[in-house]
Amino acid sequence: MHNFQQIQQQAREEAQGLSDVKALGAYRLKYLGKKGIVAEIFASLSAAVPQDKAAIGKAANDLRALVTQWIEEKSKGLAPAGSPLAGQDAGIDPSLPGTAAVLGRPHLLTQTIDEIIDVFEKLGFASIETPEIETEFHNFTGLNIALDHPSRDAFDTFYLDQDDPGAKGRRLLLRSHTSPGQIRIMKEHKPPLAVIVPGRVYRPDAVDASHSLMFHQVEGFLVDRKVQFSDLKGLLMEFCKRFFGSSLKMRFRPHFFPFTEPSAEVDISAETLGIGKKKWLEILGCGMINPKVFEAVGYPSGKYTGFAFGLGVERMAMLKYGINDIRLFYQNDVRFLRQF
Ligand code: PHE
Repeated sequence: MHNFQQIQQQAREEAQGLSDVKALGAYRLKYLGKKGIVAEIFASLSAAVPQDKAAIGKAANDLRALVTQWIEEKSKGLAPAGSPLAGQDAGIDPSLPGTAAVLGRPHLLTQTIDEIIDVFEKLGFASIETPEIETEFHNFTGLNIALDHPSRDAFDTFYLDQDDPGAKGRRLLLRSHTSPGQIRIMKEHKPPLAVIVPGRVYRPDAVDASHSLMFHQVEGFLVDRKVQFSDLKGLLMEFCKRFFGSSLKMRFRPHFFPFTEPSAEVDISAETLGIGKKKWLEILGCGMINPKVFEAVGYPSGKYTGFAFGLGVERMAMLKYGINDIRLFYQNDVRFLRQF
């Protein structure tokens, strides 16, 4: 009969000495293979005397269980043969070529918004987000846009099937511009204020290369005593030069908004931007905050003046990077996105 104790002892020592995956394979074959030691012991059963059979069977089973366990324990910590770590009990092999992580990056619109925020923060503005679901008061009435006034058509709106809990018979809506941010922030805070409000806005426009039913704006406003139109002009010129480059030419063109008086739109010169010739491209609306807006937020009459502006983020990115179709921003085609 075999000396089972000695076989087990030897198997244990050999297992302890295993130093790489190849050696482990050979060890497995030696003990558990078809012609391995465990199989050999079982084969010896037929020739054994009856009173030994139980002990032999048990010894073979025990050996198989132990060897299996040692192999399992060892295989967790072994490096492949030939690697500098073979022979050490290491769980990883840092010399193997790694799997490169594919790094993403912020979406071009996020990059653009971050860049706009960065410029204004350096100029002393705080960035605050306000809700996309708004009340008629914040989106219209507080901004001096009467609900039955035709100027409302310019801000055509998606209404929600949900009542405004604060105004009887009125429904909530998706904001059609970021200007309601002015109302919310002025209601909460007293001047001096210098704030920008970045975010999404919604309008039921037919989608084409230059219209989307969702897009992004950055609102900005500054309120204090004795703020003048020249302050607005200086700020926007500084912003545009920092965003587009210092050779940029821009112009202020008279316009109308119910919440600013006087109002203007700002165009930048395509030529100085390096795209096309002799064309002026509109990038934002602005003006001096209408005293009716100060009244709506409860500021004392005549005490403060201020300016406001609202710029289109997609517009800015399209002009800066020469993108000709607004839909590219939302299709999430990596061939487009990874260019920026
Ligand atoms: N809210 C206006 C729009 O969406 C832009 C604007 C903002 C104009 C602030 C004047 C002052 O067109």
